Amino acid sequence: MNILVTGGRGQLGQSIRKVSGEYPDCSFLFTDLPEADITDAEVIGRLIEENGIDTIINCAAFTSAERAERDCGDEALWVNIHGPMVLASVAKAHGVGMVHVSTDYVFDGESSVPYTEEAATGPLNVYGITKLGGESGALATGADLVIVRTSWLYSEFGSNFMKTMLSLAEKNGEVWVVNDQTGSPTYATDLARAIMVLVGRGIEGQGIYHFSDAGEVTWYDFTKEIFRQAGVGAKVNPITSIEYPSPVKRPAYSVLDTSKIREAGAVVPQWKDSLGVCLAALKAPEAK
Ligand SMILES: NC(=O)c1ccc[n+]([C@@H]2O[C@H](COP(=O)([O-])OP(=O)(O)OC[C@H]3O[C@@H](n4cnc5c(N)ncnc54)[C@H](OP(=O)(O)O)[C@@H]3O)[C@@H](O)[C@H]2O)c1
Repeated sequence: MNILVTGGRGQLGQSIRKVSGEYPDCSFLFTDLPEADITDAEVIGRLIEENGIDTIINCAAFTSAERAERDCGDEALWVNIHGPMVLASVAKAHGVGMVHVSTDYVFDGESSVPYTEEAATGPLNVYGITKLGGESGALATGADLVIVRTSWLYSEFGSNFMKTMLSLAEKNGEVWVVNDQTGSPTYATDLARAIMVLVGRGIEGQGIYHFSDAGEVTWYDFTKEIFRQAGVGAKVNPITSIEYPSPVKRPAYSVLDTSKIREAGAVVPQWKDSLGVCLAALKAPEAK
């Protein structure tokens, strides 16, 4: 199987690269900006043809919810809606299956039980609106397409909440963290392996799956556990969403029900266990 990974230098893309050796039957082509812009149909079409690609995993996205909100979504709209539509159209034209990654922020957070794939969506912020638009735009092309929604992604690569908290702790010795938003932290390596389970089953037809690590916490509790496992003594102060200065409205509860992807064979580790694996990987010399 020849797999094109777009957005390959992001944290999920690098996590797929890290586990790629576990799939000897697959050959991976990792691409990103500037050489493979997902909004450029010609470039993507050429990559598919020249490399005999039969599956695309789209990890490319505009992921800064803060910037999306401030810039009124111009770039986020282009990358998160137009991008997956272009990719899915090209995939369909070439008879190639595609996995596209989306977010828990398509939900409004009003639920008190984990969101299933069928639950009604209702994004609260520009980023979530663009990601939902990307889902429906890509599905509308009729491509063979699997959408995997995930939440609170972190890894040893790139920037993410876990790394931000560790660096704030080192700099200030104290952090203030929101304690009224609940979700499931997800180690990108676990998501990478879950995506490969779906790819291994063959991408035929269309479907949506939810994947996150198991368990639910607030950002405050997540931070406390990061510091505990990392042996960091910094103080963690709980605050409310209203006290946190951000233009972005975030769901109060965005836990995903992962039954469907577990039934498909994906492994869903406990988030605390995966956090430990990530912190150990962060110490390795190849981690950035
Ligand atoms: N991070 C989270 O907490 C989170 C939570 C839920 C869902 N997700 C979803 O999970 C997926 C992976 O997220 P991530 O955290 O790995 O993202 P990331 O680290 O921000 O990586 C995204 C990659 O896409 C690239 N990119 C941006 N525009 C592109 C374009 N037009 N063409 C090709 N590549 C482009 C980015 O390049 P530049 O850096 O140069 O822009 C970056 O390398 C995304 O779909 C995201 O929406 C993330």
